[in-house]
Amino acid sequence: VGLYRVVVGGLPDWLDARRLLGDGDFEFSAEQGGRVSAQARLDASAAADLAARLRGVGLGGRALTLAVEPALPRVLRRRALAEEARRYRSGSPGFGRGGVRLDAEGRRSLTPEALALSLGQRAAARGAGRVLDAAAGAGGNAIGFARAGLSVTAIERDAGRLECARHNARVYGVAERIDFVHGDARVLVPEIEADLLFVDPPWGEGYDKQRVEPTALPLLAELCTLASSERPLWAKVPPSFAVETWPDARPEAFFGVGEGDRRRVKFLILELS
Ligand SMILES: C[S@@+](CC[C@H](N)C(=O)[O-])C[C@H]1O[C@@H](n2cnc3c(N)ncnc32)[C@H](O)[C@@H]1O
Repeated sequence: VGLYRVVVGGLPDWLDARRLLGDGDFEFSAEQGGRVSAQARLDASAAADLAARLRGVGLGGRALTLAVEPALPRVLRRRALAEEARRYRSGSPGFGRGGVRLDAEGRRSLTPEALALSLGQRAAARGAGRVLDAAAGAGGNAIGFARAGLSVTAIERDAGRLECARHNARVYGVAERIDFVHGDARVLVPEIEADLLFVDPPWGEGYDKQRVEPTALPLLAELCTLASSERPLWAKVPPSFAVETWPDARPEAFFGVGEGDRRRVKFLILELS
């Protein structure tokens, strides 16, 4: 009584779908092309919440589909959208410490601290000693790798942003673990030794939320040819990246850790070697 049948389609089979979908007794069935669909009967507010959260979202290069039966009352849909917009503002924190410096682009593209640290810990667990961060921005990932105990070379072509990264590394007490290099990664990366190449290319302000082609990330497209078994590459790409264009890469989804984004995929890491 009062339940809505919700069907979400197009979920990639490499994704932890329960984490995305949240509470609910979901049943899963295989679709074509490595995709999965999930269905459940939810109460009105849970159905409206899920619909608002998944609206316009694409994962791995394809838009999710969502059907709700019977149709939700408009007032509920609007309330859920407003609530989702409010939640969006309480996402994972960038840098948690005070006194950091960020320009507008550095702030917009900053990897949340908790996620940067967990990437660092993974790299350390894999035995990487030195990481080359080819596009360091204001230092979010470089600092995360250094805090996990790795040595880091951090390249950034914007001199002001590189200074922000250097300052932020001092705030975190890890500046001595990071070599900061000003220049173009396309020239410098082949010359610098490392156990792991990390690339978080600019996504562009209005990146496509449903499908991002490799051509939209030209820095990555150039640097991915430099991956090898001795020096694997981790690419941080939008959730909507067309993963099938990189058939040898294993995608892994990273969710937020904030109240507002713990059920939202923040980015994918693709490993190439
Ligand atoms: C997405 S941001 C990196 C954010 C960073 N991972 C963080 O969490 O703070 C990408 C950065 O790549 C830099 N960049 C773009 N092309 C570059 C190139 N050819 N060489 C070096 N840096 C480049 C941009 O200036 C930008 O700061």
